[in-house]
Amino acid sequence: MNNHFGKLLRFEQNNNEVKVVFEKQAAYFTVVREDIIRVMVPFFQEHSVSKAIEKNPVVETSYSVLQDEDGLVIATDRIKVQIADDFAVDFYKSDGGILAADYRGERTIVKKVSWETVEMLEAEGHDVSGLKEEEIQFQIVKQLDEGDDFYGLGDKSGFLNKKYYEYENWNSDLPQAHNEDFKALYKSVPILMCLKKNAAYGIFFDNTFRSSINLGKENPKYYYYTAKGGNLDYYFMAGDDLQDIVRSYTYLTGTTPLPQLWTLGYQQSRWGYENTEDINYVVDTYRKEQIPLDVIHFDIDYMEHCKVFTWDEANYGKKGELFASLRERGVKPVTIIDPGTKLEEGYFMHDEGVANDYFVKDAGGNVYVNVVWPGDSNYPDFGRKEVRDWWAEKHRMLVDMGVGGIWNDMNEPASFNGELPQDVVFYDEDRKTNHAEMHNVYGHLMSKAAYEGLKGLTGKRPFVITRACYAGSQKYTTVWTGDNQSLWHHLQMVIPQLCNLGMSGFAFCGTDVGGFGADCTPELLCRWVEAACFSPLFRNHSAKGTRTQEPWRFGKEVTDINRKYIKLRYQFIPYIYDLLYQGETTGLPVMRPLVLHYSYDPEVRNLNSEYLVGEHLLVAPVLEQGVTKRVVYLPEGVWYDYWTGERIEGKQYILKDAPIDVCPMYIKAGSIIPTYEAVQYVGEKPYNKLRLLITPKEGSYIHFQDNGEDYAYKNGAYNLYRFTTSAEGQLNTEILHEGYSVYQNITTVMIGK
Ligand code: GLC
Repeated sequence: MNNHFGKLLRFEQNNNEVKVVFEKQAAYFTVVREDIIRVMVPFFQEHSVSKAIEKNPVVETSYSVLQDEDGLVIATDRIKVQIADDFAVDFYKSDGGILAADYRGERTIVKKVSWETVEMLEAEGHDVSGLKEEEIQFQIVKQLDEGDDFYGLGDKSGFLNKKYYEYENWNSDLPQAHNEDFKALYKSVPILMCLKKNAAYGIFFDNTFRSSINLGKENPKYYYYTAKGGNLDYYFMAGDDLQDIVRSYTYLTGTTPLPQLWTLGYQQSRWGYENTEDINYVVDTYRKEQIPLDVIHFDIDYMEHCKVFTWDEANYGKKGELFASLRERGVKPVTIIDPGTKLEEGYFMHDEGVANDYFVKDAGGNVYVNVVWPGDSNYPDFGRKEVRDWWAEKHRMLVDMGVGGIWNDMNEPASFNGELPQDVVFYDEDRKTNHAEMHNVYGHLMSKAAYEGLKGLTGKRPFVITRACYAGSQKYTTVWTGDNQSLWHHLQMVIPQLCNLGMSGFAFCGTDVGGFGADCTPELLCRWVEAACFSPLFRNHSAKGTRTQEPWRFGKEVTDINRKYIKLRYQFIPYIYDLLYQGETTGLPVMRPLVLHYSYDPEVRNLNSEYLVGEHLLVAPVLEQGVTKRVVYLPEGVWYDYWTGERIEGKQYILKDAPIDVCPMYIKAGSIIPTYEAVQYVGEKPYNKLRLLITPKEGSYIHFQDNGEDYAYKNGAYNLYRFTTSAEGQLNTEILHEGYSVYQNITTVMIGK
């Protein structure tokens, strides 16, 4: 409730929009769909143009509006919102059950941004003047009901269930080991999902200013959201379970598009491959060791003095030669591109940027300077289309050389010389604004530029990876979770972090396998490659100065275990690809927490150590040093041990032997899972044979096949198969759509009896 609204006076209806007029302020309620309502109060500007929602999501929906002495009720067939004096807003299911009511009790503490955060940022030299309480624009305080659990919120550190924690949305590049008490990491994805005892809802807070969300930490009776600026602008989604919310959220902000097939292959990176010899040694050793490899990443070392869109010929040879020779070996190069553009007269990016006014400026009108890898640098103003177009076109040099994808980093934006002041002038297209508003969408806009550049220049599905982004960036880019470390607790964080990113729209995501900072141990690398074997982005990356981290650096056993799991990954590529194909329509991710499919099984609401790949495969990796037995929870149904074929009844905990080379995996009864032969890289041999893993019980499965590269499938150049199996494992194949060369051979392998 909010006293700067006053009494509810009247309403005006205009198609799907209901303008509710209070004594001191008007609020807009839009019926987006029968299960989604947008609430908007124009504290900042009359119309907000969302960065996350780019297509008008509003569809014609029948709904009613009634006003009586208690206020106003807007109702669709799925959702009811009751609005009263002082902007009290309560959401109900259509059957009257409460979803989210405003908290009407007393606030015990009125703390807006935690002092720990302010102190920490201040100690690091950031400008904290903008974090004062009086600058909070508004807050929303909702009742926390018994049994409510929270998920989503993008890449936040910690556990799967976000209840009782506090987070901030302010893209942050923090070098310390990410712990569960971190308020913010690199991404701001303000989608909060609440799973109640018998229903689910989501709230997408579409606001790019610094905001914070306190999920019962201040007081277990309520949770609140507050922002430092912008409009109060949120979408309330009602559903029966979390899947409904993921579908609705990605209906609004877009789904992850189908990537190129090879991007699902294994990838190697290191900050510190210093020349052609380093790169060749790594690639050739992968081939020699017969460990599959599809991608090699080029970190900042490949540029001349870290100047973006340059190439260091002294150390990496003539432009294009190394890339061509990598491609001959089946390896696609991906290059890093940071936004910070070196301040150096005579450097074309600098000169063009200054001459055309493409860089952000300080409040006094001078081109703003801060320090990143190249030293003094300027920041392109990606909020303007002309700047994005300029940047996009600059990728031509790398594309001409044969680059396979672009890795966008440092785009929070990072700055070594203290945070950019809030008043640095940025533009949102033609509108002059500032860092406070554009910070959280800087990475989003940069990766959108890279996506558009690659798409236009290659005609293929762009492979862009970004560190910083905002809600909706999944339409343009893959994400990785930034600078983790070679620590067991960071391995433990892989599952909750990627599962929450997946539910927050980012179906294509991954962490640095083996850990970026600190020194990996042989055992940790084995357990990491096992745990991340099904993470969509599968890349080993490490930092300069740390122990080298390619598999063979740790001896034969580690090499063998890496080979085993990387080959396993290659076998499952068609399954992961199918999940991404389906996800393009449904928004459902590849890596899923069990709570997404078994929302009302209380055992899985806090299950941090297992995940599902699609619906059929359950992975329960060992995540602790020295442990060789694992307690595994299997939800309802019958499951088959992938390694032994043992039949196990679900809804129970089991103890599984898991020596260093075993990652416990289970396939549900009635599954059909497509696999390919493990190759050394995607494209080594034509994928003309399909092998279906099946488990007892009748099953049905849709499989997609195309050229794995471009947009031809949008024009019909694909095959869609429907496989059905009988209880005895008899396969029936139907081709639902034929537009590509069909498999020569489809076989089945039964797991379990
Ligand atoms: C950042 C990135 C890391 C990269 C390094 C050097 O720390 O997160 O992945 O290796 O910069 O470019």
